[in-house]
Amino acid sequence: MNLKGRSFLKLLDFTPEEILYLIDLAADFKDKKKKGILTRELHQGKNVALIFEKTSTRTRCSFEVAAHDLGMGTTYLDPSGSQIGKKESIADTARVLGGIYEGIEYRGFEQEIVEELAKYAGVPVWNGLTNEFHPTQMLADVLTIREKLGRIKGVKLTYMGDARYNMGNSLMVVCAKLGMHFTACTTAKYFPEKALVDECRAIAEKTGATITLTEDAEAGTKDADVIYTDVWVSMGEPENVWEERIRELTPYQVNKKVMDNAGEGAIFMHCLPAFHDLKTKIGKEMGERFGISEMEVTDEVFESPASVVFEEAENRMHTIKAVMAATL
Ligand code: CP
Ligand code: NVA
Repeated sequence: MNLKGRSFLKLLDFTPEEILYLIDLAADFKDKKKKGILTRELHQGKNVALIFEKTSTRTRCSFEVAAHDLGMGTTYLDPSGSQIGKKESIADTARVLGGIYEGIEYRGFEQEIVEELAKYAGVPVWNGLTNEFHPTQMLADVLTIREKLGRIKGVKLTYMGDARYNMGNSLMVVCAKLGMHFTACTTAKYFPEKALVDECRAIAEKTGATITLTEDAEAGTKDADVIYTDVWVSMGEPENVWEERIRELTPYQVNKKVMDNAGEGAIFMHCLPAFHDLKTKIGKEMGERFGISEMEVTDEVFESPASVVFEEAENRMHTIKAVMAATL
């Protein structure tokens, strides 16, 4: 398998074999890390630029640690500290950074920005989250599913909440690619866009996957192996949508009833950060405004043995390392 020179922008660009190769490579890196085996000679002397137009904990730390573990230097460009978009176009930025760095990570807004960056950079570009897709998160999620359930193909994954944004879209794509059964369980307004659903259904026909969209919370979560959710309001969305999101998505909150209805041994996943208590600024504010103490997932489920969210978060680093190591 040779992915050298390829950008990692969305999983639609990759074959099932290539995706599984990256997951195997990540598992190997994880094993080496646990054993204290160094991998610095792999890309020693190279440097990568990490552009974040939106904030991050997991993705930024994962790229930085993974790059250092591979022997590389990093430059972090924060949401306000560069000329990107304000004084300098994406095409110009791409050509500048492409001359200085061996690879570029981009987190930001529209998918077309990261596609444009990749078109002009001349070096691999990695999507660290756009409005439409979050592909590195998918590798971590599938690695976690395989570790926990011992299989990938045939796994039933139900996503609850805003399924038309980066997480819902990306999970639907990865399930289609890898022969998993994807259900978007939410009110119809939050179903993924029809064009992407059609594209995923065409892929699913070849891989044995299925794509289901349902508003029925009981039928949609019945016997699921994985219950997945994400924040109800994503980064970059306006403040004033909180009220309608809470009203419209509360019927799709992941709580004990949902987990009890899921399959035996079902796991709970979340890309994080999560609003499961009042210990955050926004969580506290919503608590005061709407009289709630938790949002997309209850604290009970988040803290339960079924919850694998912190292992999932750790796997971000191992999988991002695999993406950089394979494409550089
Ligand atoms: N899951 C995820 O992408 O987290 P960060 O926003 O902290 O990077
Ligand atoms: N949908 C979320 C994912 C965060 C990792 C967002 O875009 O804010």
